[in-house]
Amino acid sequence: MRVADVQASGVGARHGDVVVALADLRQGGLDTLQAMEGMVAEHPGVPWIALVSPETPAHEPRVTSLLRDCMAVFTSPIDFPRLYEALDRLAQGGVPARSEPDMPGLVGSSDAMRALRISLRKYAPVDLPVLVTGETGTGKEVAARVIHQLSPRAAQPFVAINCGALPGNLVQSELFGHERGAFTGATTRRIGHIESASGGTVFLDEIGDLPLDAQTSLLRFLQEGTIVRVGSSQSLRADVRVLAATHVDMEKAVAAGRFRQDLYYRLNVLRVQMPALRDRGSDVELLAQHFLDTFRQQHDCRALAFSAAARRALRAFQWPGNVRELVNRVQRAAVVAEDSLISVYDLDLPGRPGHAPAALDRVRVSAERDALVACLRETRFNVSECARRLGIARVTVYRLCKKHGLALDELAHSSA
Ligand SMILES: Nc1ncnc2c1ncn2[C@@H]1O[C@H](COP(=O)(O)OP(=O)(O)OP(=O)(O)O)[C@@H](O)[C@H]1O
Ligand SMILES: [Mg+2]
Repeated sequence: MRVADVQASGVGARHGDVVVALADLRQGGLDTLQAMEGMVAEHPGVPWIALVSPETPAHEPRVTSLLRDCMAVFTSPIDFPRLYEALDRLAQGGVPARSEPDMPGLVGSSDAMRALRISLRKYAPVDLPVLVTGETGTGKEVAARVIHQLSPRAAQPFVAINCGALPGNLVQSELFGHERGAFTGATTRRIGHIESASGGTVFLDEIGDLPLDAQTSLLRFLQEGTIVRVGSSQSLRADVRVLAATHVDMEKAVAAGRFRQDLYYRLNVLRVQMPALRDRGSDVELLAQHFLDTFRQQHDCRALAFSAAARRALRAFQWPGNVRELVNRVQRAAVVAEDSLISVYDLDLPGRPGHAPAALDRVRVSAERDALVACLRETRFNVSECARRLGIARVTVYRLCKKHGLALDELAHSSA
């Protein structure tokens, strides 16, 4: 119902009702926009949801600023589960938080993420090592930071070290420090990363890559709470909590003799297993929209949301590089998208149309050309309409015409 009609129809808000406004920007007319701006200004406390389409002039600064204030942006057909989720959260008393306030870097509301948050909350206050495992790009470092932030050590340093990137001969000195003259080139005493995290947390990323001699020193530190700088014989106390992460199978590394079993037991007291992105259900759409919103805050870009086909493709894709891959693909798509909706072509997912294996190419190329010509004829060479029907960006229509040697004006002329 339009806000203007509410009074006339006698609909009113009872105490405790949550009012949410819907800004329908699908038509993109200037008068609609003006009316919306007026209403937003008049009701500053009311949360807004926006409905957009490829016709929405997303690059228009006034639209951009209106959308920035919206709590969620939807395309039609509306993704109802996402809408209900947004409304549910609103009813529970707030703008839909896609991440918990105390875990701002961790977006997602799937069962897997809920379970993860429960573990992180439980483990954070316990001063024991935590081993974070999971495929590449699943957010292991994000999880480690959350543990630190929710721990009593939050005000102290969080030092992240990538064990795989340390030069082999310097691992010991990087972690535990060295005395002056400990080895050639050690002209001054140097504090190691563990000592520099004093009072706080050290995050040992890619722990599976730690050389055996450093494993021995780390084990002593975990057992006795002491470190010895290279070139010194004196043990020093260090009050540091150790979090570690790995994407390799530690049991296998232990079985192969590459990782000390006793150290593995010590590190593996509390275990956090990061779920793969493909196992997080609709989180992939939530995350994609989140990364797009974040990107929009820093860059001028037309894309506001994802087309229905793009959302389906996001869900169907296996995401071998997990969240990191999603971040990169969304940013790339946001750059290339010509319309307000990111299309499946903009996402350019391997295994999707436009990414077919070579053997299929010839069949696809002629099918693609036929489909394009047919659609152009049906739409009387209206490129925007053709793009919408095919679920691709307008720029892609032009690109495909070029690829198939189709001159739009000649075609239109010959069909007239
Ligand atoms: N749940 C999430 N919500 C928002 N952003 C996330 C989430 N999980 C991961 N990210 C983002 O994805 C990227 C990869 O995360 P992170 O570096 O923590 O992954 P990782 O598991 O440590 O990867 P690798 O195995 O390659 O070291 C980062 O940009 C991070 O901010
Ligand atoms: Mg990492």
